[in-house]
Amino acid sequence: MIMKYNFVKEFILNEGATPSIEDHLVQLKLPYARGDLDPIMSEDTINYHYGKLYKGYVDKFNSGEGDPDFNEAGAFLHKIYFAQFQSPSSSKPAGEILEFINKHHNSFNDLKAEFEEVAMKIQGSGWVYLAKNGQIKTIKNHAIRSDIVLLIDWWEHAWALDYQADKKKYLANIWKIINWSIIEQRIATTDR
Ligand SMILES: [Fe+2]
Repeated sequence: MIMKYNFVKEFILNEGATPSIEDHLVQLKLPYARGDLDPIMSEDTINYHYGKLYKGYVDKFNSGEGDPDFNEAGAFLHKIYFAQFQSPSSSKPAGEILEFINKHHNSFNDLKAEFEEVAMKIQGSGWVYLAKNGQIKTIKNHAIRSDIVLLIDWWEHAWALDYQADKKKYLANIWKIINWSIIEQRIATTDR
């Protein structure tokens, strides 16, 4: 079964580019090499998470296998997730994105602490994200949301290979690979 792809969803997926209606999903082409996020996110994790799991949601949706809503939402979230990374660096939010963080969370350190607090309360599989209104929100399993500006995959497959049971360390490290210019673009273009 081929589902019509929603206009609003496609708009979000394309990071503000001219929207178009698609009748199938296309996996994001990574804007970095699979080994570029190491050691924060290893090539093995990318091979499994991007190369098998995320690809699986896209392929299953396109072939009509399984629950189309679940697979579409899985593909949607992973596209946002994998698009927001860059090679590890000491770069921190600055300029408009830092103003946004300070306005809603006092400081970048406070934002990180609040993310950890919210994420650790998630039971089972899910996602935690910074929303366009500045709030930190969660998603149980998978769901399509139109207000995501920074998204953390909290499913076990996102951290277990690199961090074993230490998901707090996965979250503490992930800030080193966030591409803040992407986050700033999303704040400017994402729906409320
Ligand atoms: Fe995932």
